[in-house]
This record gives sequence, structure tokens and C-alpha cells, in this order.
Amino acid sequence: MARMLHYRPSTFNHESPPEPMSEHQTMAPSLALDRRLSVAPMMGCTDRHCRVLLRLLSPHALLYSEMIATGALLHGDTERILAHGIDEPAAFQLGGSNPEDLAACARLIEQAGYREVNLNCGCPSDRVQVGGIGACLMAEPDLVAECYRAMAEAVNLPVTIKCRIGIDDRDDYGFFTGFLTPIHQAGCRVFIVHARKAVLQGLSPRENREIPPLVYDYVRRAMADFPDTTFVLNGGIKTAEEVRCLQPGFHGLMLGRAPYANPWLLAEIEQQCFGTPMPDPELILAAYRDYMTEQIASGTAVKYMAKHLLGYFTGHRGARAFRRYLSSHMFAADAGIEVLDDALAESGVLDHCRAAMAVAR
Ligand SMILES: Cc1cc2nc3c(=O)[nH]c(=O)nc-3n(C[C@H](O)[C@H](O)[C@H](O)COP(=O)(O)O)c2cc1C
Repeated sequence: MARMLHYRPSTFNHESPPEPMSEHQTMAPSLALDRRLSVAPMMGCTDRHCRVLLRLLSPHALLYSEMIATGALLHGDTERILAHGIDEPAAFQLGGSNPEDLAACARLIEQAGYREVNLNCGCPSDRVQVGGIGACLMAEPDLVAECYRAMAEAVNLPVTIKCRIGIDDRDDYGFFTGFLTPIHQAGCRVFIVHARKAVLQGLSPRENREIPPLVYDYVRRAMADFPDTTFVLNGGIKTAEEVRCLQPGFHGLMLGRAPYANPWLLAEIEQQCFGTPMPDPELILAAYRDYMTEQIASGTAVKYMAKHLLGYFTGHRGARAFRRYLSSHMFAADAGIEVLDDALAESGVLDHCRAAMAVAR
């Protein structure tokens, strides 16, 4: 592999975080979270490995897990599902609609060291609808309030709701506030809103992230109507410039696809929001490579970690060759850390990246 510094995440020199903004919630200040910037829960993407990489790039962003259904957490490999390392502060997202199960899961999440429990009321996929999970819960605000209450009573962590602004033809502002009101009355003071409706029949999950129009104004109006509540805006935010423009108008912004496709966007936004100096791509990669090596030694297949690097060199010469090499070799049963080293060597992307950085300096 090209010259690579060994760089331990634990020695990563981040500045201490600024004062978190008010949680608008009755809780000890030590439990309040800075919600100005967060990375969205994304199944198949924001697993514990991804969150390590994102944390190296952004000391301050609040990172969300993928959605895990209560049944999987309670009856599956609980320890493995909850395992996480240097990703803190991290929030864990649950899918479910049974208050007792959600409360039991929330306790496990708290014990595992997560800083927030979030309930998914926004996923439109057929599979989760069958289980009474996700966006279909927007039709049952009283049940969501009951779920909220059960979780909030079970743990000493913020319990938050991630939702859409409506479902199907129920997309007027009154429907949205009709959903928020009982949950707010139950005590919820943090809502994360993917600001487009979900179409429960006829659109795929992917189409449901593209086709229904974004209506940020509903979130603005909700901020005025629920002045003691934190609203985090999500949906369609793609650039640091958009973050700069939107940030003054909302308590927080959550980005999903854009920072996953190009993790350096997160570092750029981190710098813009918190003044954190841009880290060195080579050092971050070295730290993540060390992490991968450790994980491989304890039995994790390389593909689970390497896949999060596919967008790492976005915009640099050699990025496509790096991506092509990695994606065609990381699935081999005997793949080891040399897959990453060879992808770097074959593509020459690190040299191009160094050259580009030297010019930028
Ligand atoms: C691959 C993928 C998986 C997702 N999985 C989840 C999930 O597990 N839970 C959830 O609440 N939203 C999920 N979402 C939706 C995102 O959290 C987010 O609301 C959506 O992508 C809009 O934000 P964006 O435009 O910044 O990507 C997923 C999105 C994608 C692209």
C-alpha cells in the first residue's frame, strides 16, 4: 500500500464540542444533544462500521443507526446488533408499534450506550407496513403517543420521532399537526421530519424519497405552532451551501444520501457548522484501515466495512477505478485488508488526492 500513517481513532484530536443547543426537553443538561447536524438512519448504510468512518470525518454530527425492528432486537443477536464503538454520540432507531416491546428495546439501547432512542414513523416499504411499522403509523397518532410514553418511561434518554409530513392523500397541514399533537401531549419534544409525504401504495421506497414534493414550510409552521419543541428538517439537502442557507431557519438539519455517497461532504459541513479544520484524507483512511484490520481479526468480513469507502474519493482522479476495484474484489470469501491496499495501488487515487491537496494548499 502507498505510504500510510498509522493513526488511531482514540488519538484523533478533535476540539471539544460547542455548547449543545437546548433540547427543549426536561432532562439533565448532560443528556442534551447537539442536533444542528445529523446523519440520517439508512438501512444497509449507517451500520456501526459506517458510523466509525463518519465519526472520523465529523466529530459533532449526531449519527443514527439503521432501523432495527423490535423483534430482531429482542429475539435476534442482540449483542451484535447493539455493538458500537467510536461513533458516539449515536442514536438508535427502532421500528415497531408494540409499546411493551419498544420499552424493552429502549432499555437495551440505553444500556448499550446510545444517546437517543428514535422511533421510525416514516418508512413506506411494503415489508414494514405489514408489520405495522414505519410511515403507516402516521395514521395512528394515539398509538404512537402510547409507544412514545412507554419508551420515555423506560429510559432516561431522549426519545424522538422521525416522521413524514403526511401519507397518501392525507397531506394537508392539519393532518401533520394532528399527528404531532398527541405525541407532543405525551411529552415528545423532538421530531425529525422527512418533509415529504409517503405514498403507501404504488411507490417504491426509492420513489418515495424522490417523487412526493418536499414541503419544508410545514416544518417551519410546526416550529411556530409547537414553540417548545425541537424540529430537525430532513429531505433533499445535498450541499454545504444548502446547509448554510437552511440552517438559520431550523433547529437542526439531517442529511442522508448525500453524505453517504460522498463522506467528505460531511467533513465540509462539519467545518462550516463547527469550525473544525478539514481533516487529512490520508490520515482518516489510515484510521479506518486500522479499524478494518482490527475488525477483520475478530471475524468481520471485509465487505461490510469496505463498502462504506466506495464514495470516499468522490471528485478525485482515480475515484472510479478505486471504486471498481473495491466493489469487484471485496466480496471474495478470502478477501482481507489487501483489497483496500490493492484498490489504492491499482487506481493511484491516493497520489491524485495528495497532488490535489498540495495544489489546494
Ligand atoms: C438506502 C436508504 C435506507 C434508508 N433507511 C432508513 C431507515 O432505516 N430509517 C429511516 O427512518 N429512514 C431511512 N431512510 C430515509 C432517510 O433516513 C432519509 O429520511 C431520506 O433519505 C431523506 O433524506 P436525504 O434526502 O438527505 O437522503 C433510508 C434512505 C435510504 C437512501
